[in-house]
Amino acid sequence: MSAKPAPTDIDIHDLLAGRWSPRAYSNEPVDRAQLHRLLEAARWAPSSSNLQPWRFLVFDRHRDEAAFQRAFATLVPFNQKWNANVPLLICVAASTLTPKGEPNQAAAYDTGAAAMALVLQAHALDLAAHQMGGFDRDAFRAAFSVPDDVQLIAMISVGHHGDASLLDETLRERETAPRTRRPLGETAFEGAWGKAFG
Ligand SMILES: Cc1cc2nc3c(=O)[nH]c(=O)nc-3n(C[C@H](O)[C@H](O)[C@H](O)COP(=O)(O)O)c2cc1C
Repeated sequence: MSAKPAPTDIDIHDLLAGRWSPRAYSNEPVDRAQLHRLLEAARWAPSSSNLQPWRFLVFDRHRDEAAFQRAFATLVPFNQKWNANVPLLICVAASTLTPKGEPNQAAAYDTGAAAMALVLQAHALDLAAHQMGGFDRDAFRAAFSVPDDVQLIAMISVGHHGDASLLDETLRERETAPRTRRPLGETAFEGAWGKAFG
């Protein structure tokens, strides 16, 4: 299963409706030009005062297996299971201070926007990309000497779509489960807090 378009209430752009979080990867490498395009997409994200607080630390199994394995080891066991074949892991981090050394209140917001650009570009290239909060941030920080003023936010696995029928039963069920969202009125208000849009 390499497509799972969102059953949206009204029409939205195919790129947005079509992006999803697959768990079936092939072990085929992602070529460097494609990887470069993902990072370039993120590079052009908007940010508060154009501070560009996002930082990406890339692990390419086919280029540096040892570093890849050290990053892979920080994933929680559930995430390790379905990422066994994945060729790329990308750690998403945010530089939390402004050039004046003050907290950048928009650091996480801007970094999320950059990550979304990366993931959408991956989808546009027919690559599978799956964001993960399930990794050991302390272990990752220690393993890669990440400075204290950098917030470790997520990992993204990226690869070519694989055969979902090879996943175990639990994962296969998740892979084929319908994509759902809360009704819009629960998350979009108008005029007053809690007053549903529309
Ligand atoms: C910040 C973040 C952390 C996530 N962490 C995990 C994770 O650790 N493991 C996992 O399997 N999926 C993880 N996901 C994927 C979400 O479960 C998924 O985006 C959500 O269920 C909606 O599905 P969709 O992306 O296919 O629309 C994460 C997504 C985000 C954005």
